[in-house]
Amino acid sequence: MNETIPQLLSYDDPSLEAAFATLADEVRTETSSQRDAEVFRLRWLGRKQGRLKLISEAWLKSAPAEARKPLGIRFNQLKQQIEAALVAAAAAPPVTSAKAGIDITLPGMVRAPGIPHPLLKTMQEIVSVFHDLGYSTALGPQVETDFYNFEALNFPPNHPARDTQDTLVLANQQAKPSRDRLLMRTHTSPVQIRSMIAQAPPIRIVVPGKVHRNDAADATHSPVFHQVEGLCVDTNITFSDLKGTLDYAMKALFGSGVKTRFFPSFFPFTEPSADVQISCIFCAGMGCRKCKQSGWIELLGCGMVDPAVFASVTEERRKLDPADDAYNPAKVTGFAFGMGVERIAMIQHGISEIGHFYSGDMRFLEQFA
Ligand code: DAH
Repeated sequence: MNETIPQLLSYDDPSLEAAFATLADEVRTETSSQRDAEVFRLRWLGRKQGRLKLISEAWLKSAPAEARKPLGIRFNQLKQQIEAALVAAAAAPPVTSAKAGIDITLPGMVRAPGIPHPLLKTMQEIVSVFHDLGYSTALGPQVETDFYNFEALNFPPNHPARDTQDTLVLANQQAKPSRDRLLMRTHTSPVQIRSMIAQAPPIRIVVPGKVHRNDAADATHSPVFHQVEGLCVDTNITFSDLKGTLDYAMKALFGSGVKTRFFPSFFPFTEPSADVQISCIFCAGMGCRKCKQSGWIELLGCGMVDPAVFASVTEERRKLDPADDAYNPAKVTGFAFGMGVERIAMIQHGISEIGHFYSGDMRFLEQFA
């Protein structure tokens, strides 16, 4: 122990002054180096091995009588200095981060919170327009059977209407009956069939989802894209209901100034069928490059549910309940519609390349934050 105790060679005033100044320095250095306060307290004030006790014993033992008083006073001062340092340490905030080597004065790390993808945003917008009209969301699988994707929707096997939807089929399906063969769904319309088989009218659903076609990618086409389907079946549903509903939805999506018009078209699962056009939002119908000078932009397909579709649904429902008559076309009618999410988002935002949606390029995506 002796080597850690400083020697006091003389008891005159200057020697005492110098010796205690050294000890006070030692205390100051230790407190400013932010050592653990309890370790510091034990080292200096510990009852048996504390530095203050050992040094005072050593120095007082050989002190001449007249030096005892000034020594005692100085030891008291030193003790007060140590106690004051301990009080200060207890009041100071913890220094853990400084200990871990983190500079808390540096600016923090910025974490971007993330935003919905522009396609998802548009899809949710479309869906919520119909939620406001009392529709609920229905979903279906992306891997479908031929029956739901085509046959029940009045595309018979080998019917030329199938050519309008070039289809990606799963391998090794030839051994199955045609209706059970698996394929990637080419549209969201099969969810109409699934929903009607599961639920009697009235029915009002919107179906957002991903669809697949064997299409080459170009500025406006992608082999994987998104649609929102709609179906409404109830008593007394007419073509006027279809027009009113879609006119309201287009105004909600593109602004109250847009006009709609309905052009005769063909889909196997609706009769009559129509293509819906909106007045060009870029030129307000005056004619521009975007609308090919026509003043109108074609946006979606729709029509009155074909009785042949109700017949397919009824046939399936009768496998569970032979007396089922819920979708008797003499009792209920309905309308359906389907729109491409990419197309609508491209018009909303003036985007001319569909590929931007899938590239993951932050310069594109950040514009929707
Ligand atoms: N399924 C059609 C397509 O992908 C779009 C469509 C047209 C859906 C008319 C409908 C409809 O429900 O009534 O081309």
